[in-house]
Amino acid sequence: MSASTSTVRWGRAVAEARTNIALVKYWGKRDAALNLPAAGSLSLTLDGLVTRTEVRFDGKLNEDRLVLNGKAETGKPVTRISQVLDLIAALAGGRERPRAQVESTNSFPTAAGLASSASAFAALALAGSGAAGLQLPPPALSVLARRGSGSAARSVLGGVVLMNRGTAADGLDSHAEELLSIDEARAWGLRMVVAVTSEGPKETLSTDGMNRTQETSPYYAAWIKSVDGDLAAARQAVLARDLPRLGELTEQSCLSMHASALAARPAVVYFRGVTIEGHRAVQQLRKAGTPVWFTCDAGPHIKALTDAAHADAVAAALGALPGVLSSRVCLPGAPAQLIESGSGAAA
Ligand code: PMV
Repeated sequence: MSASTSTVRWGRAVAEARTNIALVKYWGKRDAALNLPAAGSLSLTLDGLVTRTEVRFDGKLNEDRLVLNGKAETGKPVTRISQVLDLIAALAGGRERPRAQVESTNSFPTAAGLASSASAFAALALAGSGAAGLQLPPPALSVLARRGSGSAARSVLGGVVLMNRGTAADGLDSHAEELLSIDEARAWGLRMVVAVTSEGPKETLSTDGMNRTQETSPYYAAWIKSVDGDLAAARQAVLARDLPRLGELTEQSCLSMHASALAARPAVVYFRGVTIEGHRAVQQLRKAGTPVWFTCDAGPHIKALTDAAHADAVAAALGALPGVLSSRVCLPGAPAQLIESGSGAAA
């Protein structure tokens, strides 16, 4: 092992991060290798949908190991984790690193469009850097999480989060920042209702779906062109605490993103029948005076932005739709948190 490696304190750490739901969506990359987004995005970090991850560097291991919700993983999920751990080692100044045991548990269905990669890579970035003895400031942590998954860059922060596209070739300015803290977002009364429609893994992973959209959809350019304006308007709406305007932009951004994906060849379709019924139910509630707006991601689940006074009624209405398995009200959530760190079975 190299001299520089021996100066790094390889130990263990545990971190928690929450998922987030984009109000202005991220869909497309300007650099695939560095995982840089083609445009910025805006999200709400959610309470209750948590990934807890332990990273333990262990000189006795001869390969990285990943246990996800109690099940040992192999192949691509392990490779993605190893890449982030390699980046952490480079930041820590170690040319080589001990292999690591990574154990991760989600409090919600994995890979089904509930953005588990967002909370997973945010928790990994924090636990991994903590286990390497690093205390990274939020922008650096966000850059690191982004290398695992674009949306993970936002889960490093709490409340309402703005993801900067950035312009630097190395991507160091492509990170998230807090627009409203968790307390400010809660004081405003923001709520997200999440209605889960299936527990199974999604059909097209978000990276594959966005690549295909970018490469083949005649509407991709129009979608990307629309994001900057929507983002600026959404930022203004957040700062003005204008929920109807933010809601309108949220629904528009979601449907524009899916429109670009639907036009890919072959089409990238995340909607199921129940997703469309969810959209219709949200529209009907709104017609009847409820402040509620629809969104959905790379899966069939229905999400609805609303306020504290109406969230329970929205959850009940979506929960009653045939095909919805469960619905819950989520409050704005906290930033990623380091739960424990210390020396472990290191090199
Ligand atoms: O972070 P990824 O690569 O899983 O992409 C996330 C894509 C969407 O969830 C559909 C949109 C978003 O901004 O979160």
